[in-house]
Amino acid sequence: MNPRGIAWHILKKVFNERKLITDNYPFLFENVRDERDRRLVVEIVYGTCRFKGRLDYVLSRYADRKRTEPEIWLLLSSAAYQILFLTRTPDYAIINETVTIAKQAFQGNRKKSGFINAVLKKLSREKDTLTFPSPENFREFVEHNLSFPYWLGMKWAADYGRERAVQIMKALNFRKPVVFRCFNGLDSFGSNYRFHPTPHLDNSFEANVPIYLMRAGSCYVMNESSQLVAELLRNFSGEWVLDAAASPGGKGFILQSFDSIKNVIFNDISDKRLQKVLENSKDLAVPVPFSVQSDFLSPAFRKESFDGILLDAPCTGTGTISGHPELKWIRKPGEIQGRAKLQNRMITNAFQLLKPGGILVYSTCSLEREEGEDVVLNFVAGESGARLLHPFSFAAERVKENFQSFLTRENTLRIFPDKYLDGFFAAMIQKKS
Ligand SMILES: C[S@@+](CC[C@H](N)C(=O)[O-])C[C@H]1O[C@@H](n2cnc3c(N)ncnc32)[C@H](O)[C@@H]1O
Repeated sequence: MNPRGIAWHILKKVFNERKLITDNYPFLFENVRDERDRRLVVEIVYGTCRFKGRLDYVLSRYADRKRTEPEIWLLLSSAAYQILFLTRTPDYAIINETVTIAKQAFQGNRKKSGFINAVLKKLSREKDTLTFPSPENFREFVEHNLSFPYWLGMKWAADYGRERAVQIMKALNFRKPVVFRCFNGLDSFGSNYRFHPTPHLDNSFEANVPIYLMRAGSCYVMNESSQLVAELLRNFSGEWVLDAAASPGGKGFILQSFDSIKNVIFNDISDKRLQKVLENSKDLAVPVPFSVQSDFLSPAFRKESFDGILLDAPCTGTGTISGHPELKWIRKPGEIQGRAKLQNRMITNAFQLLKPGGILVYSTCSLEREEGEDVVLNFVAGESGARLLHPFSFAAERVKENFQSFLTRENTLRIFPDKYLDGFFAAMIQKKS
């Protein structure tokens, strides 16, 4: 199969089976050997997911979506993305390849391939005259200009106001620079590569190093918001710290690198994902002496046994849509409440495992209050032994300065996405002595 056919195949997995793009990587690596072809597949798949609403809008000028088979619509969407957003391949080549894919997939059905050909040719002819909905019609603007499902855009407008909601959606459509946390310095890379420190944290860089080399050089791909969560415990002293939902390990590795934290236990529900922690720790030369597989809904630890706990809870991940644009289409409104229920149980369990005086950091990479503020504030309101601490109680000066603007009146951290940062939530709770 050619790269465009592979991209279509992966898009069908995402839209029909709600599979994450990264879950399709093994298929991609098995079926596409050439590095440049792989990059093309990745570009088409991510771009189509990122701008699906716009693509639907322009295609609707030339075809009736309701009368078009969904898989043909998806093939048209991926070709429309290439025609509108990619510059290296001429439109006629994109159209020819797409029609060839259709002929193979539909056993030479001429009606279908002819239809695809006609739609794409019209799009190619008119592409410089296209316009998109303006903010006056908010629904149209959200769906067909910003390319987000209306329910999600409206939810953010209700939670944060329209202006902020639009900023969030625009920021989540940026392709962020790839950021690395470096654990053992940069010497191993020699002088062939350029490293730029990222704006908010120490030991964090953007670089022109291919990811496979990064792995060999003890650096780890990790957004600054994600690094920040662990940085909140930089000046915390403790003998035993639990990373309750640890895989693939980034935050736990940072905790382990702090001198004042003696032992970090990496816990995760999934054995397979725990293996990933161990693989990563080997690549990074950051040892993980303690790893435990247990469901944190019934944790395998004694009560009051930890000085500190990081609960980076499983969540809808809506703050990370720029890196995972398929999440906008995969997530459904009911899932938010489902995750919140799980998070409420996990935070209660985490608190029970804390020693008196112990510290719990709760975080999610979600923009939803139900998974962040509501979980933490409801828990603290109902638990007389819990106290909300200032999130920067153990943070370095630089963190305090750079993340000051994300502090909320409720004494929590709500990070909105921007060019560098993913959307995140974090709060710090202490068990009263
Ligand atoms: C947001 S990720 C954690 C990311 C990690 N802290 C890091 O920085 O690399 C959430 C993790 O929670 C794990 N998880 C989900 N449900 C769980 C449960 N009931 N008990 C323990 N871990 C769970 C998932 O396997 C996933 O690895």
